[in-house]
Amino acid sequence: MTSQIIPVEPFDFVIFGGTGDLSERKLLPALYYRQQGHQFSEPTRIIGASRSKLSDEEFRAFADKALREHVKAADIDEAGLKAFLARLSYVAVDAKSGEGFGKLKKALGGSNAIRAYYLAVAPNLFGDISHKLKENDLVTPNSRIVVEKPIGRDLDSALTLNDQIGADFGEHQIFRIDHYLGKETVQNLMALRFGNMLYEPLWNSAHIDHVQITVAETVGLEDRVTYYDKAGALRDMVQNHILQLLCLVAMEAPSSMDANAVRDEKLKVLRSLKRINGAEAPKSTVRGQYRAGASAGGAVKGYVEELGGESATETFVAIKAEIANWRWAGVPFYLRTGKRLASRVSEIVIEFKPIPHSIFGDNAGRIQANQLVIRLQPDEGVKQWIMIKDPGPGGMRLRQIALDMTFADTFHERNPDAYERLIMDVIRGNQTLFMRRDEVEAAWTWVDPILHAWADARQEVQGYTAGTWGPSASIALIERDGRTWHES
Ligand code: BG6
Repeated sequence: MTSQIIPVEPFDFVIFGGTGDLSERKLLPALYYRQQGHQFSEPTRIIGASRSKLSDEEFRAFADKALREHVKAADIDEAGLKAFLARLSYVAVDAKSGEGFGKLKKALGGSNAIRAYYLAVAPNLFGDISHKLKENDLVTPNSRIVVEKPIGRDLDSALTLNDQIGADFGEHQIFRIDHYLGKETVQNLMALRFGNMLYEPLWNSAHIDHVQITVAETVGLEDRVTYYDKAGALRDMVQNHILQLLCLVAMEAPSSMDANAVRDEKLKVLRSLKRINGAEAPKSTVRGQYRAGASAGGAVKGYVEELGGESATETFVAIKAEIANWRWAGVPFYLRTGKRLASRVSEIVIEFKPIPHSIFGDNAGRIQANQLVIRLQPDEGVKQWIMIKDPGPGGMRLRQIALDMTFADTFHERNPDAYERLIMDVIRGNQTLFMRRDEVEAAWTWVDPILHAWADARQEVQGYTAGTWGPSASIALIERDGRTWHES
């Protein structure tokens, strides 16, 4: 059964940083797909806004090239592409001096259509753009502002950014993107937990031994030298994506999918995370940095060679986190993420407790604990590992098999990119999959002490060979507790 597409109201979509990387790779393709999916109503307009002095025609040429490169060739429909390009126009703006905002106002006209201002720019421009929009009377009741991570590099800077934007837009108009929340499989986590009776009664410390969340990448620095070296894996991946996943695993059932109902529950989880202070950090965290090795069949440089200079920035982090509340006390959440790891895989593993007593005797083999493996990417799906009797004669021997719900086997629709869903939610004004201000701040409140502990104790990055699963200390982190990382 295919789902019914409900068109959104006509809207004006302004992309600050319209000629940048995010616009090219994600935003324009996502908008194109939604147009092709018949989700637009007329008149819907897309306005690029950047410092470069481009004509409308030049911006359209940029978009044409971007779409041909980043949309699957089979999905390019020439008539659709032409219609899409006709929606585009361009205004040169300077966020610092304010030049061009008058022109933007003229381009938008006086309508009260839905407006989305998407800030695909560096965070140090968030405040300037937001203030210039306000000064130029561009913040109408129907306007929303969209910002990307990083929202700050610590709690203080996050507070400042949130204050700056909050001075011009109401919280209901601010959409803080964490693109992981737009992934189909991440939303599926909520479907799995709250659309089934099966798991929820077992979803607690009485029945779950531990949880693992892995977001492993094979890519290295890519072209993000300046940003990444200042950020590192903890800020880049854990503060946002991994903590959001942890929240979805650990939160109580919200009363509905209402944005505040969901975000209230996530916030409680973030606030229940046990602080990792100076004494705890060396035991509960591992920082790593990749050295030269092999990835995707070829030799790759180490991080410092790629960077072209010395650096103590971590490209890998593993953390043993704990949630101090009734549901989760005593259940470790092992988190790990890194660049240049052995394979690209994001998954959540829920390991249930072992059975209390085996009735099967010594010949039955080892009775393994049930595992629920939620594969976020690639090969999206869910596997429930259970014990069954090995078929045939030979007595009661047991073995583990997976109930395999690989989505590609069941669903044949295209898996939309996270940005498609998120952009449409911005237009609909639905904030369920966006981070509220207090969530971002609570996440930093947990991350900051780790950063301080690392700095105070000079906790060094441990080298790992590119193409492996990270430093051996990360294996020790979990094996000390008598557990092992799930092999993907
Ligand atoms: C981004 C990080 O937020 O997420 C990148 O800044 C990372 O460093 C990326 O590569 C991973 O996203 P995805 O969707 O490819 O898993």
